[in-house]
Amino acid sequence: MKELYKTLPQHTYSWSLVIVTLYKYQGFWNAQHIHENTILAQSYEAQPSDVLLCSCPKSGTTWLKALSFAILTREKFNHASASPLLTTFPHDCILFLENRLEKIKENPSGLPLLATHLRYSSLPKSVITSNCKIVYMYRNIKDVLVSYYHFVRELVSLSVEDAPFEEAFDDFCQGISSFGPHWDHIREYWKASQERPDRFLFLKYEDLKKDASSNVKQLAKFVGCPFSVEEEKSGVLGNIIKLCSFDSLSNLEVNKSGKYQAYGIFGLEHRLFFRKAKDGDWENYFTDEMKEKIDKLIDEKMSGTGLVLK
Ligand code: A3P
Repeated sequence: MKELYKTLPQHTYSWSLVIVTLYKYQGFWNAQHIHENTILAQSYEAQPSDVLLCSCPKSGTTWLKALSFAILTREKFNHASASPLLTTFPHDCILFLENRLEKIKENPSGLPLLATHLRYSSLPKSVITSNCKIVYMYRNIKDVLVSYYHFVRELVSLSVEDAPFEEAFDDFCQGISSFGPHWDHIREYWKASQERPDRFLFLKYEDLKKDASSNVKQLAKFVGCPFSVEEEKSGVLGNIIKLCSFDSLSNLEVNKSGKYQAYGIFGLEHRLFFRKAKDGDWENYFTDEMKEKIDKLIDEKMSGTGLVLK
């Protein structure tokens, strides 16, 4: 790997005093250790009953994990009063495929659920041959960019003044972000979903916010656990939506403190995964020129796909 890295395109963040280098390997940008975990993850043997929760970072992965976990465990736990989500960080309820392969093989949750930020073309071959189901969560790219900016900035403990948004914007537009280029990520999953529509569910963050009920019902049906009329009437669906809402999860002690040992390298504070959850926060950061530039780029990159991202 050391020899390989020397030959790969690389990009180092120029933010003051902080050195974070991303490498482009198999078409996407990431830090060294994540590329290494990706290679290990590619030997995962997916089962036809698996459901893979896929997304680009900052597109609502934490929310999707919480909802999927609650949906699949609702017979075991009363999520209104005694949910494991009240005391467990959602990323510890459902693991990332590219995170800890030994643990994934043990499958501590016993659920057929895994999450990943890998792009479609980097998924283990068994995901495609097993024909398992894929849920893809995506979000307004401009809000993803702002969310990603703050996440990385906080990760390296920089103030807004020391981490100019303009640089993050330029990098992102060049496709440089963890698991980026962002548009390639979305485009690959979208294309695959056109070929095998019955195996894919595309969920849009903004739609889930606007109409949680019908989107969560759709998710439950897709993962093979549809809500019955009785469950809807007795409030099981409503309780899950409420528990997994931003207000509820972000105010839980477990999500306000503690660290996530993601990717085996350093602890990420749980709170970093819960910022504002506001649609349209990008308007507080983008100049007119930036808006025009990224809209043009999105149009270009997504043209002909039929997927509307703005
Ligand atoms: P913001 O930074 O815009 O607030 P991911 O989980 O993929 O890392 O995405 C993180 C984004 O999802 C953050 O967006 C975070 O606040 C938001 N988020 C986290 N939990 C959420 C929830 N339960 N409902 C809605 N949004 C949530």
